[in-house]
Amino acid sequence: MDISYKPLWRQLLEKDMKKKDLMRLGNFSPNLLANMGKNKYVSLKNIVKICEVLECEINEVVELIKVDKKEYIGDKSVSRPFVKWAGGKTALLESIKKNYPKGLGKEISKYCEPFVGGGAVLFDILSNYDMKEVYISDSNEELINVYKTIRNNVDELIDSLKKIENEYIPLSDNKRKEYYYEKREDYNRYILKDIVDEVYGSALFIFLNRTCFNGLYRVNKKGLFNVPMGSYKNPRICDEKNLRSISDKLKKVKIVCASYYKSYNFIDENTLVYFDPPYRPLTKTAAFTSYDKTSFDDNMQIELANYYRKVSGEGAVAILSNSDPKNIDDNDNFFDDLYKGFIINRVEAKRRINSKASKRGNVSELLITNYKEEK
Ligand SMILES: C[S@@+](CC[C@H](N)C(=O)[O-])C[C@H]1O[C@@H](n2cnc3c(N)ncnc32)[C@H](O)[C@@H]1O
Repeated sequence: MDISYKPLWRQLLEKDMKKKDLMRLGNFSPNLLANMGKNKYVSLKNIVKICEVLECEINEVVELIKVDKKEYIGDKSVSRPFVKWAGGKTALLESIKKNYPKGLGKEISKYCEPFVGGGAVLFDILSNYDMKEVYISDSNEELINVYKTIRNNVDELIDSLKKIENEYIPLSDNKRKEYYYEKREDYNRYILKDIVDEVYGSALFIFLNRTCFNGLYRVNKKGLFNVPMGSYKNPRICDEKNLRSISDKLKKVKIVCASYYKSYNFIDENTLVYFDPPYRPLTKTAAFTSYDKTSFDDNMQIELANYYRKVSGEGAVAILSNSDPKNIDDNDNFFDDLYKGFIINRVEAKRRINSKASKRGNVSELLITNYKEEK
């Protein structure tokens, strides 16, 4: 078996990051990158650390290749998010996995993720557990349409994305800029239903997500996408292999555009529910709750806590993540009070909504469960 770090070099290109930045951020020895340059095996611990710094998954850093180099292994069954998403859980995934309940994929045969976003946990569960029924929802209509397009029309979507990629990548910086803003306009016409082609709309969504500033999804008061262009040198616009693997896995998933509480009828005592709502901002300036036109304020956090209690009362197994106000104010007991009686774990995470990689420090985040045991 050979090993290749091509995905890592691609990540660095996409993020416009130099090897020396990576070494500095992860405090790695120069030997490590030299060994990777020669495609030598390095420790899993170091690979995981690189993933933390780059906020990506292991298969975005390294790939295993059969010696004849014809066949790649381990990729068909592992899917990962097809969008970068604010609050995406890739960097927290290991901590969340440690808190999966016993019996997942066995007695716990149903999975529900009502704030699915980019679906980092969803894809981990779909890749590693055999769930009988799965329900996902999000209030972002366009995002949900992309999930449906990937499930129902993956071939057409891949064709459309390849066309965009082939048009965009060879362009000069100035021409790329023109192209980006033209496509952004098209996308807004799609939101306004001037363009009704869902496959093209979904391709635009993915294209904009891969090329816009920091992969943000932000809309103005009219609901129109207004994120400026980012500065990725070599963005991966069409990840065909991942899209196909996601498409397979979504076949059995119920995909719903709705508020989280509409999941109620799906949930029963055999269900794991993972709630990942928009985080309560730690500071006023850090507020980032505008994934869509509505914002998720403290009253909504309170309503969600009531819903969490309600589904817990029905016997569902539930995990919820949120920000930890105690990072800023030790006396802020907002979530400790709201989730009294449940298990409140504080786990270490990297900040994600900050454009400067060097400013992402470690903060604690909350993982609240209604059960004790760890796997
Ligand atoms: C923190 S993000 C989820 C991130 C996701 N776990 C991931 O790994 O990418 C929160 C998501 O909740 C959605 N959302 C906001 N309000 C909602 C509501 N009332 N009901 C359902 N989804 C909502 C947002 O559109 C956003 O995608």
